Amino acid sequence: MAAWSSRKLLKEVLLRRVSSNPPLPRFRCFSTSAPESAPKISHHSKKGRLLTGATIGIVIAGGAYVSTVDEATFCGWLFSATKLVNPFFALLDAEFAHTLAVSAAARGWVPREKRVDPPIIGLEVWGRKFSNPVGLAAGFDKNAEAVDGLLGMGFGFVEVGSVTPVPQDGNPKPRIFRLRQEGAIINRCGFNSQGIVAVAKRLGAQHGKRKLDETSSSSRTSNNDVKHGGKAGPGILGVNLGKNKTSEDAAADYVQGVHTLSQYADYLVINVSSPNTPGLRMLQGRKQLKDLVKKIQAARDEMQWGDEGPPPLLVKIAPDLSKDDLEDIAAVAVALNLDGLIISNTTISRPDTVSSNPLASEAGGLSGKPLFDLSTNILKQMYMLTRGKIPLIGCGGISSGEDAYKKIRSGATLVQLYTAFAYGGPALIPQIKAELAECLERDGFKSILEAVGADCR
Ligand SMILES: Cc1cc2nc3c(=O)[nH]c(=O)nc-3n(C[C@H](O)[C@H](O)[C@H](O)COP(=O)(O)O)c2cc1C
Repeated sequence: MAAWSSRKLLKEVLLRRVSSNPPLPRFRCFSTSAPESAPKISHHSKKGRLLTGATIGIVIAGGAYVSTVDEATFCGWLFSATKLVNPFFALLDAEFAHTLAVSAAARGWVPREKRVDPPIIGLEVWGRKFSNPVGLAAGFDKNAEAVDGLLGMGFGFVEVGSVTPVPQDGNPKPRIFRLRQEGAIINRCGFNSQGIVAVAKRLGAQHGKRKLDETSSSSRTSNNDVKHGGKAGPGILGVNLGKNKTSEDAAADYVQGVHTLSQYADYLVINVSSPNTPGLRMLQGRKQLKDLVKKIQAARDEMQWGDEGPPPLLVKIAPDLSKDDLEDIAAVAVALNLDGLIISNTTISRPDTVSSNPLASEAGGLSGKPLFDLSTNILKQMYMLTRGKIPLIGCGGISSGEDAYKKIRSGATLVQLYTAFAYGGPALIPQIKAELAECLERDGFKSILEAVGADCR
């Protein structure tokens, strides 16, 4: 009860800050005026009051700190001190905490990766140079609000979306559930999206800004070969396309996405694997997938492209596929020269490791640690079926450099994560990259590409 009350109170205090529409001024990470605006707490228990008092104390201390040092330093401290911040975030509703995190990243209130990525983890894929292979998976920045802040944290690439043609609210809340003990999340967001027009406007506006911005992690690297600007500025930007829930013509939805957003993307993803949009996963069937990919490739290729050519097209698949399904997808991917596959989305299964958690019965897709083995197994199978000819992005349950390395050895050229980032915060990214470099060196690999598929040979 106490925890609930304090969470509600904290949410009210924070919502007041986040819901103020104009961006908050610089040098005001967390307001010193929060205590005045806090509602009365007399009806709360002693524990609740203590907790709330501690929170307000942190806010005041933060405010005082901000008044003496610059915003970036303060926020860097706040966000990299994940041990301190995570329990604070854990008090909040999962979706609200997520909104706060995106909001902070959008405002640049996040630590910027200061270290240059070790050359051993740099690589080139689709003619695009990645300073490191660790990306942020789709779903975190659904509306492309925080691309620059997220790239600045040290991700090698960021995938925005899934974006639907027409704005839609997604499923009713609550729709994100944290299975903390298991390092997992169940979500049934159902493609809450501001739609392709809003996202195009945002990416269009960032285009100039990001191009001029010399502070992004990838533009600061000493490796002059690293790409200094995707279509939308520094760093590699993926755009993940979805379909509207009520749309009856899935292909038309994806084609609209391609027409409106591909000009900003370094790569495009067709998401046919979310478990939260009825009928979507049927598009992974051999015939459906073939027809869909053909139409989307045609739409992309009939657009006017410069020297760099059109953005590569990838398909994101589910981890809940049979051997036959995987064979069909591999056949389509090879036949149509698909540029890549993302393996995988969330699972509708509930592995034994989560079955004792009461939240495991919530409907939706499971992500995080319990997904690691399942998605890595599918990745390995797909690497073997495609004979290593198609770049694969390994996603699902990565929470360490060793995990990222395992995905690479299982056939991934690039990797992505979401859930571990939601738990571990920005400090996790440099940690994963450093560990990954160590793993490669330990095993005598000179580059990521050398290690790709090492466990499948
Ligand atoms: C809250 C939440 C929302 C997500 N939304 C999307 C989405 O819109 N599109 C998509 O392709 N994947 C989405 N995903 C799936 C992730 O991109 C990723 O494939 C999956 O979570 C497995 O990676 P992880 O274990 O590192 O989280 C979402 C995941 C979560 C947890």
